[in-house]
Amino acid sequence: MKISLTLAAAAATIALSAGAALAQDAGDATRGEVVAKRCVACHTFDKGGANKVGPNLYGVTQRGVAALEGFNFSDGLKQAAESQPEWTEAQLLNYLADPTAWMRATLDDPKVRSKMTFKLADEQQRRDVIAYMETLND
Ligand code: HEC
Repeated sequence: MKISLTLAAAAATIALSAGAALAQDAGDATRGEVVAKRCVACHTFDKGGANKVGPNLYGVTQRGVAALEGFNFSDGLKQAAESQPEWTEAQLLNYLADPTAWMRATLDDPKVRSKMTFKLADEQQRRDVIAYMETLND
């Protein structure tokens, strides 16, 4: 009896931590919409929205890297798009953490700088804002 209780407790602990890991991993678009308020100094998210310092981000996960017509992307981002044309979740997770580091790694060029100077350090917030951007497609 004692042993099975201990086992049950251990199983419950494992199930709980697995649940916590899942909750940590999954991006949540509703939370991401709140995170996106940190981006609006430079970006709009509505369909057909204006470009600011940064490009409009509606549809960004479908249109690809540096692909919005009418926005003057940096040479670095346009070059990165040649080897890295899609904004996958994995790429965005790295890009949003540190755009310049992402660009340097992608181009293998230690001197290049991203035009986007903002970094989003919190991984959960990055997952959430990516999930939000993935909803902004036709
Ligand atoms: C200080 C201004 C600034 C802030 C704040 C900012 N960005 Fe940016 N962002 C830019 C600029 C400028 C670019 C264009 C980069 C280039 O051309 O190299 C860009 C580019 C991007 C791109 C690539 C767009 C494309 O069409 O390939 C994504 C995705 C992006 N930003 C997401 C975000 C998100 C999400 C946030 C908030 C968490 C954010 N940005 C906050 C300035 C900013």
